[in-house]
Amino acid sequence: MRYRYLCVLLILASLAVRAQTPTDAPNLDHGKKLFQGHCISCHGPNGEGARGPTLAQPNLPRASTDAALVRIIRSGIQGTEMPAHRMQPHELTNLTAFVRSLGKLAPETVPGNPARGAELYKTKGACAQCHTLRGEGNLIGPDLTEIGRKRSAAFLRRSITEPSAEVPQSFNAYRADINMPLNFLFVRAKARDGREIAGVRVNEDTFSIQLRDLTGKIHSFSKDDLTELHKDWGQSPMPVYAAVFSAEELTDLVAFLSSLRGVESR
Ligand code: HEC
Ligand code: HEC
Repeated sequence: MRYRYLCVLLILASLAVRAQTPTDAPNLDHGKKLFQGHCISCHGPNGEGARGPTLAQPNLPRASTDAALVRIIRSGIQGTEMPAHRMQPHELTNLTAFVRSLGKLAPETVPGNPARGAELYKTKGACAQCHTLRGEGNLIGPDLTEIGRKRSAAFLRRSITEPSAEVPQSFNAYRADINMPLNFLFVRAKARDGREIAGVRVNEDTFSIQLRDLTGKIHSFSKDDLTELHKDWGQSPMPVYAAVFSAEELTDLVAFLSSLRGVESR
C-alpha cells in the first residue's frame, strides 16, 4: 500500500518537474514549416533571395537583432513588398530561429567567370546606360551595387532574359500613387503641346507627375496639361537580353552580378 503511494507521489513529482522545465526552446522544424508557408514565395526555399532579399546571410542589414527581425515579420516594411504577418508569440520564436539558421548556410556557389561578366556589363550589355554601380551610371533601373546580396543567381538570370517577369512594385492600392524607391512603374504620357514621353515614374500626386525618360532627363507635368497617361504596371523598359548573349556569356554575367555584394566586394 505504502509502496503504491510512493509510486503515485513519484509520478506526480516528475510531472511537476516536467511542467517547470522551460518549453520555449525554439522548434526549428516548426519554424521551417512557417517559413515554407509564408516566406519562400518571395525569399526562396532556402532564403537564397528572389523578389525579396537573400535571408541566408549571417548579417541581415535591417534585422541585426532578433527583436528587429520579429518587428519586420509582424509589421512588414512600409512602402515595400514585404508584408505584415499575424503570428502567435511561439510562432515568431520558431520562425526567427529558423531564419537565423539560414544565415549559417554556406553562400550559394555560382558558376561562371565574373571578370568576363564585368566586361560584358560595360560593353555588349551597355547596362550602365540605365543602372548605377558604385556611384557610376544612370538611375533608370535599380542600383546594382549590392544586387548579389539581395538576389539568387536564378533570379538574376531571369531578370536579364525576362525583365518583365518580376518588376519590383507595391500592390497596395493606397500606396500606388506614392513615390517609392523600388517601385518601377513604366509610364507613357502625351502632353497638349505634342510632347510624348516614355519613362519611369519618379513621383506623382493628385495634380502632377514626374518622369525620368530613358536618357535620364526628368520631366514634370501638370496632369491638366496631359491628353494621355498610360501606366504600364508590370512592364519593364529594360531590353530582353535572352537573344543578345550566348549561354556562356549569360553565365558569366550572372556570376558578375552575384559577386556584387556591396562593401564586401570592393
Ligand atoms: C510578397 C513578398 C514577400 C513575402 C511573402 C515575404 N517577404 Fe520579406 N521581404 C520582401 C521584400 C521585397 C523585402 C525587401 C524590402 C525592401 O527593403 O525593399 C523583404 C525584406 C525582409 C527582411 C529584411 C532583410 C534585410 O535586408 O535585412 C526580412 C528579415 C524578411 N523580409 C523576412 C521575411 C519573412 C521571415 C517572411 C515570411 C514570414 C517574409 N519576409 C515574407 C518580400 C517578402
Ligand atoms: C533601358 C534601361 C535598362 C537597361 C539598358 C538595362 N536595364 Fe536592367 N533594369 C531596368 C529597369 C527599369 C529595371 C526595373 C524593372 C525590372 O525589374 O525590369 C531593371 C531591372 C534589372 C534587374 C533586377 C533588379 C532587382 O532589384 O531585382 C537586374 C539584375 C538588371 N536590371 C540587370 C541588368 C543588366 C545586367 C543589364 C545589361 C545587360 C541591364 N539590366 C540593362 C532598366 C534597364
